[in-house]
Amino acid sequence: LQVGVVFGGVSPEHEVSVITGLQAVAALDRTRYEVIPLYIAKDGRWYTGTVLFELEAYQDLEAIRQTAVPVRFDPAAHGKLLLVEAKPRRWPWQRPRRYLVDVVLLALHGGDGENGGVQGLCEALNVPYTGSGVLGSALGMDKVLSKLLCREQGIPVVPFQWFREADWADHEEAWLDRLEAELGYPMVVKPARLGSSIGIQRVEDRQALDAAIEEAFRYDEKVVVEQAIRNLREVNCAVLGDPSEARPSVLEEPVRSDRTQLLTFQDKYMRGGSKAGHRGRKQQAPQGMASLDRIIPAPLEADQTRAIQEMAVRIFQLFECAGVARIDFLLDDDTGQVYFNEINTIPGSFSFYLWEPAGVPFDRLMDELIRLAQK
Ligand code: DAL
Ligand code: MG
Repeated sequence: LQVGVVFGGVSPEHEVSVITGLQAVAALDRTRYEVIPLYIAKDGRWYTGTVLFELEAYQDLEAIRQTAVPVRFDPAAHGKLLLVEAKPRRWPWQRPRRYLVDVVLLALHGGDGENGGVQGLCEALNVPYTGSGVLGSALGMDKVLSKLLCREQGIPVVPFQWFREADWADHEEAWLDRLEAELGYPMVVKPARLGSSIGIQRVEDRQALDAAIEEAFRYDEKVVVEQAIRNLREVNCAVLGDPSEARPSVLEEPVRSDRTQLLTFQDKYMRGGSKAGHRGRKQQAPQGMASLDRIIPAPLEADQTRAIQEMAVRIFQLFECAGVARIDFLLDDDTGQVYFNEINTIPGSFSFYLWEPAGVPFDRLMDELIRLAQK
């Protein structure tokens, strides 16, 4: 089976996706699959070639384009992804190389790779792909619609407000007044459709709120402002399957040094970083999400753990997710109340570290994703 592992992408989470992609490449069982690495550069162009197996997570990605093979789509192979070498031919009798992919393994984070865009491309080409479909991906990427949907279904969410850039620009002072009156400090400001903590800030006063909103608009024209929880713990649960066969993972509690702070991009990814696997040789994959300090399983009462796992499965089914998704919850340590925070339909590192304790090693997790994609 030819598996195309797609990573990179036009997204602020490009580098994070490179880590996840290289981890997937290293984890795939080479006795079962022929792995075709597919790198999407920041300008949206697609590349392949064995040079991508040598890729290191933190190296100069632009340099890769010098040696990788640029490819373009050929829609002729309905049911498979057909990629054709897009280099100019030196001699007329030279035929461009073709790559045929049976299953697309999406290791993209953010942007078109996680919001249903690439999923829609696969749908149109009738190619099996891992993870959630167009609807679940699109809903999951949007923090506002996710919260509205959960709230409508009686799943607790923290009080929040949202607005678009044009509306904000016209009524800035009115919005600041309204946020102060309805939410109160501290607040958390987020671009509505981004991941990896990019553009997210916790604010304590009006000046910081104003600045944080302006900053968030650099990333998205829709912004959400939430009431912050003072004594906050975060608890995440991954779910594997599809709406008819969904199972929860163990819970994780990411650890922050300071409870009043949020997890940053730095916390999440910048601690590890070693070389990805070579063909046929097992090497340590880049650490990425796996290097984050976290407690697994999260130290919670059995009842609460079960309640969160049930809520995670319910949300996974509600969003019509498939493959592996990670649902992030906020826990108010003063009241014990749990809130839905967000869903990640392509979680960093596919949350492999939450499946290993449940007896599903990374290579088996990849098998599962591929099986579900072909279902
Ligand atoms: N968006 C990142 C990769 C995550 O939440 O896992
Ligand atoms: Mg996220």
